[in-house]
Amino acid sequence: MRKIFILVLTSILIFGCKTSQKTTVKQSDGLFSLFVEDPNSKPFFSDKKGVFSDNGMVASAHPDASKIGVEIMKSGGNAVDAAVATHFALAVAFPFAGNLGGGGFAVIRDKKGNAYTLDFREKAPLKAHRDMYLDAQGNVIQGLSLLGHLASGVPGSVDGMVELHKKFGKLSWEKVMQPSIELAEKGVILTEREAFGLNGLKKTLLQVNGENTPYFIRKDGKIWAKGDTLIQSDLGKTLRLIQQKGRAGFYEGTVADQLVAEMQQGKGIISYEDLKLYKSAWREPLIDTYRGHKIITMPPTSSGGVALIQLMKFVEPYPLRKWGWNSDSTVQVMIEAERRVYADRAKWLGDIDFVKVPIKELTNKDYLSKRWSDFNFAKATDSKAVAGGTVPGYESNETTHYSVVDSEGNAVSITTTLNGAYGSKVVVDGAGFLMNNEMDDFSIKAGVPNMFGLIGNKANEIQPQKRMLSSMTPTIVEKDGKLFLVVGTPGGSTIITSVYQTILNVIDHGMTMQQAVNALKFHHQWLPDKTVFETNAFSEKTIKALQSRSYNIEQQKGTLGRMDCIMVHPNGKLEGASDPRADNTSVGW
Ligand code: DON
Repeated sequence: MRKIFILVLTSILIFGCKTSQKTTVKQSDGLFSLFVEDPNSKPFFSDKKGVFSDNGMVASAHPDASKIGVEIMKSGGNAVDAAVATHFALAVAFPFAGNLGGGGFAVIRDKKGNAYTLDFREKAPLKAHRDMYLDAQGNVIQGLSLLGHLASGVPGSVDGMVELHKKFGKLSWEKVMQPSIELAEKGVILTEREAFGLNGLKKTLLQVNGENTPYFIRKDGKIWAKGDTLIQSDLGKTLRLIQQKGRAGFYEGTVADQLVAEMQQGKGIISYEDLKLYKSAWREPLIDTYRGHKIITMPPTSSGGVALIQLMKFVEPYPLRKWGWNSDSTVQVMIEAERRVYADRAKWLGDIDFVKVPIKELTNKDYLSKRWSDFNFAKATDSKAVAGGTVPGYESNETTHYSVVDSEGNAVSITTTLNGAYGSKVVVDGAGFLMNNEMDDFSIKAGVPNMFGLIGNKANEIQPQKRMLSSMTPTIVEKDGKLFLVVGTPGGSTIITSVYQTILNVIDHGMTMQQAVNALKFHHQWLPDKTVFETNAFSEKTIKALQSRSYNIEQQKGTLGRMDCIMVHPNGKLEGASDPRADNTSVGW
């Protein structure tokens, strides 16, 4: 399990494995002052600068997608129009995680301050059942929930985009869809990272889709290189059908025929009925406070929002700013919070349409202070001694993020995924899009870790039509009643802790948005009982202090987080902050 965890953390972050460049913090780097306890520590992955603008901002994983989002705003669209256009552009330009065949979550704050959340997470097909990934002896069949046709949940992204646009869109659907169609037909110019990703995918792609698959393979058989053009004409046709027919262009007609045929020939189980039944769900936003800031985040089916609120509440009583960024005391209370929160996640969190999740109780002050009562500064708590908390009255039972703000102050925070890089690697024949491998986010067997090392139980077991638990944490923060931050990232189980650290970097440590994104990160998830950290995230002093208190800490080769965030500064300027760890780009106007 340990090996799988390390492998996965490394491989999901494959796109960010560059040697870090560091800068020493200067007080003048930001609008605020930053207190770093150890003057020799180098808290940033790079000195990338934020993008500033007055009228609107899109921060996403791909420059073409961010540009398209901004063009939509320039032609009269609002933040939701831009977000929808960005989503479809990412499905073309960023097949690693952008998608038609996946799902996700949207958190929206309109210009008046009203909050909304949309759950367009995939669902288990009707023919799914609890033990579908186990052999006759009850053992997990390795890889079945990750690779190939059986790994996919029923996609939610297209329905999600249609819903968002129906409720908030200002421009026509046709206009919002048009740029991604052109991008698919004219082609995307590959970056070095994308060429590398597609070359790495080739072997599995052929294995899953057959030797003759035309998708994501160069016609001349050569490997992809930076600057090559990736034309996706079948994907263009699919996007045209969605443009013409909306939801029906994907869940019915030609594309549904292609998807069901693909499933049938690959022994998958998604049916016409599944496609017809898929519906995204508006959920009550999860709203709480942290040091006087309003936190608007995603309720279940994502565990992200509940976990984020719990994490914040645990450390709110402590003077993190006085202690300093990544000082031993700051890191220690954050790790201990993470340990308890991920144990709760494993026990309590699941699809609220199927299981009762005690959201209020889990984020309640008294409950959290009871959970904290065994914390001791002298020594690490042992994860073996930490189980999910007891809530009275209850029985136990490769992703991408984009942030958008428009000129009126409407804000959208969306995280969407195929799960692993390029999902299940199944490309729907004729339709040209990749399917997700989201079924692995279910607890496929109680207590057995998924690809992110996460453990689950009954609350997250497979049932037909149920949504698998997620860690995605799209979040919006208000300060003094006004829009302040739009935040999110991919990273599997590390999403929650990256969002947590990024927000704390701003609120507690006074960083600008880009500094908070650039800042080096660490992660703990209860089990396995260890803290991983990016190179240089911890000073020697912090490492020694933590080790002397029995913390198991491990520097990792890969990186943590690929954030795309926006901050509204006191003078009204928007700061777009896209992660220097990959091709992420903010575009403003
Ligand atoms: O929903 C989830 O929590 C996962 N499927 C997210 C996967 C992910 O972030 C992979 N990207 N690095």
